[in-house]
Amino acid sequence: MYTQSIDLPQDPGDLPRDPRPGARAASTAADARREADFEASIAADRKIEPQDWMPADYRKTLVRQISQHAHSEVVGMLPEGNWVTRAPSLKRKAILLAKVQDEGGHGLYLYSAAETLGTSRAEMVDALHAGKAKYSSIFNYPTRTWADVGAIGWLVDGAAIMNQIPLCRCSYGPYARAMIRVCKEESFHQRQGYDIMLTLARGTAEQKAMAQESLDRWWWPVVMMFGPPDSDSVHSGRTMAWGIKRVSNDALRQKFIDATVPQAELLGLTIPDPMLAWNAERGHYDHGPIDWDEFWRVVNGEGPCNRERLADRVAAHEKGAWVREAAMAHARKRAGAQSRAAA
Ligand SMILES: [Fe+2]
Ligand SMILES: [Fe+2]
Repeated sequence: MYTQSIDLPQDPGDLPRDPRPGARAASTAADARREADFEASIAADRKIEPQDWMPADYRKTLVRQISQHAHSEVVGMLPEGNWVTRAPSLKRKAILLAKVQDEGGHGLYLYSAAETLGTSRAEMVDALHAGKAKYSSIFNYPTRTWADVGAIGWLVDGAAIMNQIPLCRCSYGPYARAMIRVCKEESFHQRQGYDIMLTLARGTAEQKAMAQESLDRWWWPVVMMFGPPDSDSVHSGRTMAWGIKRVSNDALRQKFIDATVPQAELLGLTIPDPMLAWNAERGHYDHGPIDWDEFWRVVNGEGPCNRERLADRVAAHEKGAWVREAAMAHARKRAGAQSRAAA
C-alpha cells in the first residue's frame, strides 16, 4: 500500500549488518574508482542493479526504505482484513478480498527487492516483530465502520499512488520495477475506495453521514502519511541526491491535497480543515496546521492500534509456522526426487 517510512529514523544498530565488500568504506583506489562509477551512473540516471558496487550508506538506506515499505504493505492488510467478513455484499467482499490480497503481494515483491541487497526476509520480519522496524503510521488507526474501507481506498491508497509513482523512477532497479506493478494495483484500490464513498454519499442520510464521519477521522492522519515537513526530514537530502526519492514530502502532500479536494466536492463531503482554501497566487490549496505531535506519537508506538497491529502480525506469523515448515519439507522432498532421477 504505502511508504511514508522512507523518512523515519530507525536505530542503525537494528539493521542487519551487510557482509558484502561494498559495505566497507571505500578506502582503496579500486573502491574510489567504483564509487566514481556509481556516482556517474546516478548522474546519468542509469539504474543500479544488485550486482553493481554501491556505497554502504546507499545500500543501508535502501534496505531501511524498502523493508519499511514491505512492512507497511503487510501490516496494511490488517485494518481492512477486519472488514472482509462484514462486507455489505458478495461483490464488495470479493473486491475487498482481492485488494487485501494485492497488499500481501506488494509486501512479497518488496521483501524480495530488499533481499537483493543482501538482507534476508527473516531478518526483516524479525525486526518488525521485535518492534524495531517502522511501518506507515496510518495503519495504527482503527477501522470502525464500513465507510472506513472506502476512506482507506480513496485516501490512503490515493496517497500511496502519489508517493509511489516517483518511486517507479528510483535509481535502484529492483525497487523501481516492483513499483511499476504496485502502482497499477494501487490505482484499482483507489477506485474501489472512491466507489464505496460515492455509493455511501449518494445513499441515505445515514450512509452519507457515515462517509463524512469517516473522512473526518482519516483526513489528518492521511495528510501526515507523507512524512515530516521537508525542514525536519532527516534522510531526504541524501535520498534525493541518490535518486531514491524524487519528490519532497511537502510537494507530494500538496499534490495530494490539490487532487483530493475536487474529489471530496464531487462526493458532497467536507474536508475537516476550516483553513483549506484555494490560493490563486500559488496555484495550490492552502491548508491548516498539521499536528506533528500526533504523528510522532503514533510513529513511536503510541497510536490507537500500534500494540494490536504488532500482536496480530506476530500471531499470524506464529500460526503460519506449519505452512512454512510444510513448504520446506515439500521442497526438500522434490529436490531429493529430482537428484535421484538425475542419478
Ligand atoms: Fe493499496
Ligand atoms: Fe499496496
